[in-house]
Amino acid sequence: MKRSLSGSPLVNQDRNVAGKMSQNGTTDRILTLDSMNPSIKKVEYAVRGPIVTRAVEMEKELKQGVKKPFTEVIKANIGDAHAMGQKPITFLRQVSALCAYPELLNDNKFPEDAKQKAVRVLQACGGQSIGSYSASQGIEIIRQDVAKYIEKRDGGIPSSADDIYLSTGASDSIVTMLKLLVAGEGACRTGVLIPIPQYPLYSAALAELRAVQVNYFLDEENCWALDIKELRRSLEEARKHCNPKVLCIINPGNPTGQVQSRKCIEDVIRFAAEEKLFLMADEVYQDNVYAKGCAFHSFKKVLFEMGPKYSDVVELASFHSTSKGFMGECGFRGGYMEVVNMDLAVKAQLTKLVSVRLCPPVTGQVVLDVVVNPPQPGDPSYKQFVAEKQVVLGDLAEKARLTEEILNQAPGIRCNPVQGAMYSFPRIHIPERAVRLAKEEGQAPDMFFCMKLLEETGICVVPGSGFGQREGTHHFRMTILPPIDKLKVVLECLKDFHQHSPTSTPRIGAGLSFLKAEQRLLRECAPQTPRFPHFASHTSCTQTVETAAGLGRCGPSDVPGPPF
Ligand SMILES: Cc1ncc(COP(=O)(O)O)c(C=O)c1O
Repeated sequence: MKRSLSGSPLVNQDRNVAGKMSQNGTTDRILTLDSMNPSIKKVEYAVRGPIVTRAVEMEKELKQGVKKPFTEVIKANIGDAHAMGQKPITFLRQVSALCAYPELLNDNKFPEDAKQKAVRVLQACGGQSIGSYSASQGIEIIRQDVAKYIEKRDGGIPSSADDIYLSTGASDSIVTMLKLLVAGEGACRTGVLIPIPQYPLYSAALAELRAVQVNYFLDEENCWALDIKELRRSLEEARKHCNPKVLCIINPGNPTGQVQSRKCIEDVIRFAAEEKLFLMADEVYQDNVYAKGCAFHSFKKVLFEMGPKYSDVVELASFHSTSKGFMGECGFRGGYMEVVNMDLAVKAQLTKLVSVRLCPPVTGQVVLDVVVNPPQPGDPSYKQFVAEKQVVLGDLAEKARLTEEILNQAPGIRCNPVQGAMYSFPRIHIPERAVRLAKEEGQAPDMFFCMKLLEETGICVVPGSGFGQREGTHHFRMTILPPIDKLKVVLECLKDFHQHSPTSTPRIGAGLSFLKAEQRLLRECAPQTPRFPHFASHTSCTQTVETAAGLGRCGPSDVPGPPF
């Protein structure tokens, strides 16, 4: 008799397998949609959702020669600077390269300060190699550098390396923190207050952890400001069915691009102290503040400046990342979390929890070290580093301004100022007829809008429904990251797609309404000539921008419906 390696007769095994064959001939699986973890099925992440899947398909179609009204798919769906063409900061990559391949330390093309930095990090690594695991909390000298950076940022308020946890991007530490916080069952289950619109990591993590998502709405009419009255309403409502004990803030905001005022932060801290809420401050966009009169204030700084009544009691975790800012190094997966006033026994549990995953990528830790401990005046790389940083931040400020200006020229689109971060979240008027059509297709109206936009123009943005929005309102989120020329094209296309206005240029305006796009999609033949010639040439792009300039701005109270 044939036997398997484990010794059981193969005949019996075959019979068992046959017994598990389902009617369609496939083996009955242990892991099915019915048997799998139900919490995972509830997880949604719009930023990489169906719209992006379709965008990727369309890219492949274009490569295969399928004719479309555009020559390129522009993915403005995600805050990924390098994917949008941003150049890496030289010093940062020099140090990374030296750490990855220390033979380069003998190469005189690399500046001395980059070499010194690389040697310092390598000496702190096991076997002097970034290929070794680090301590689970992160390399000690890098945590010390992070603590010094925070102290400097916060005007001298002390920070300790013991309270710093390096992470695999901010996503990792945010989820880790939520894991620690979520407990209880039924009406005692932890409730977590999150802003709406939110960055969908939060709703996804809460779904996975079976925590109760408690929404508080940001005030769109007031530049997406956080309103304490709304926070209180949402908390009181939540207390009827769960145990709200965590308050998440995203500042500067994603997807809404607002920068919180210092007064508002003080109010939030007071509120958290009174209501006994654990504060999670997502500050990954702390370097991305553009609007005049706006400044980044860290929750930690404001907390300590409010005095011991608050700084002795309010529990806070704040998060930063190498993915955003001027560096945009998303792929390295670097970041840190600082915890304040955390119970020591819980901190030990946190350290245990992160140790299960061994350590964050050491490559990401290296990048983080450069971010928090950059070249200083007098160092060989200082001037170039500062110049490169300023170019990125200066361009982003210009793109933030352009985005608001151009989108607001379209009747039916209303865009708040992009004060910070990397996104705009404009409100779009979608006429009743389109809403009905969307419903017939089983889609949220803004998903319907974004899909049609993608098919017709090749521009990929994310429907507002993926971030949450007030009932009856519609939005989309787009990044401001494309290079300035391309961004102008994207914005003009968006504007023209949404409006069907006699004031738009005939070349672009012809038939570019949302519903006309719908009709076109129903036609069998793909058009032979590109309808968006400006995608193929920058000359025509400039013409488009010039022609469109001077159209009236659409203010908050005068949103005319686009003549779909
Ligand atoms: C508000 C916010 N928090 C956290 C993250 C996660 O960033 P990462 O995990 O790349 O550090 C992002 C990414 O876009 C974000 O926008």
